[in-house]
Amino acid sequence: MASPQEQSTAPEHEHANEPQEHKNVIRPQQKIDYNDPKYAGMSKRAVKRLLKQELWEATKDERRQAFKDKKKRKREEDRKLIEQGLLEPKMGPKRIKPEEQEWSKMNVVIDCEFNSYMVEKEINSMQTQIMRCYSANKSAKYPCPMTVTSFGGDLEAVFDKKTPSRAQWKGIDFVAESYLEKFDKDKLVYLSADSDNVAHELDESKVYIIGGIVDKNRHKGLCQDKASTQGIPTVQLPIGEHLQMASRKVLTVNHVYEIMLKWLEYRDWRKAFLEVIPQRKFESNNPNDDPDTADNDEEADEESTTEDIKSNVQLLETPQEKATDEQTAENEATTPHQK
Ligand SMILES: C[S@@+](CC[C@H](N)C(=O)[O-])C[C@H]1O[C@@H](n2cnc3c(N)ncnc32)[C@H](O)[C@@H]1O
Repeated sequence: MASPQEQSTAPEHEHANEPQEHKNVIRPQQKIDYNDPKYAGMSKRAVKRLLKQELWEATKDERRQAFKDKKKRKREEDRKLIEQGLLEPKMGPKRIKPEEQEWSKMNVVIDCEFNSYMVEKEINSMQTQIMRCYSANKSAKYPCPMTVTSFGGDLEAVFDKKTPSRAQWKGIDFVAESYLEKFDKDKLVYLSADSDNVAHELDESKVYIIGGIVDKNRHKGLCQDKASTQGIPTVQLPIGEHLQMASRKVLTVNHVYEIMLKWLEYRDWRKAFLEVIPQRKFESNNPNDDPDTADNDEEADEESTTEDIKSNVQLLETPQEKATDEQTAENEATTPHQK
């Protein structure tokens, strides 16, 4: 007979439709048998961490499916409300035509010297975030040339596995060197939520560095300390001056980059923040909001499929290619067509 610890406290029907392979995974409602020999020598905390990890891994597909179903239900509800005239149809993100784009002179670096600070899941998420940055250039009025520095190791392996097309991506360089080797030190500015300096505007002659790390802010001050040690000035985005946030003001890499792109377009921080930062991060009275932890954007990134991003990453032209195309177009416009 099962011991009381082994008995599930969850109602039976909860696991009724559960796929067979998840049956052995312990759910949060279940009691843990710490005396089980397979946990020998482990602290209670370590056992809980292990079980949490196992549950996370085992339910990945379920969570993906639930996320997709939720999106589908929402689309269906919205469609009905639109039909009843109770909701305005969304126009979707403004799509900028390539000929309306103009490359900014501002360089952006994603500093990827942090692989050793991340677990596998976070490295995967980092890869998605870099893809999102690249994708954001596609719909930006003023896309920025990007350089992913100190690129290699596990992150490179994830890229090779998930997006081998990276080699053909335009307007973004992946280099093994650090930003100190690639750019003039005088031009470098490190972005950090921990900086004492607040950016009131962006200087397009500078090279802005974003820390390429997903850590739910476990390593507070890591990028700020790195920049200070290297003698590189730091700035934080002026979020506090424009918005009340429910959680800390530490954003994901892609949100920081998208905000910069929006600022280049509008020259208005508030507008840029409101367009990019997810609604749930604004101040709320929800007692479940934890003010001291970075939110789950990183997980949300992982949940969303990469297909929509992938479809957006191919067409971008580099400034040089754009110049050649413009020249060709100009020649065509001024040269009479031969019959
Ligand atoms: C997830 S955060 C990394 C947090 C990390 N613990 C650190 O030391 O910065 C990723 C990067 O986004 C940028 N970032 C995030 N929030 C920011 C803010 N409020 N202002 C400026 N940069 C920010 C920083 O470059 C940061 O390194």
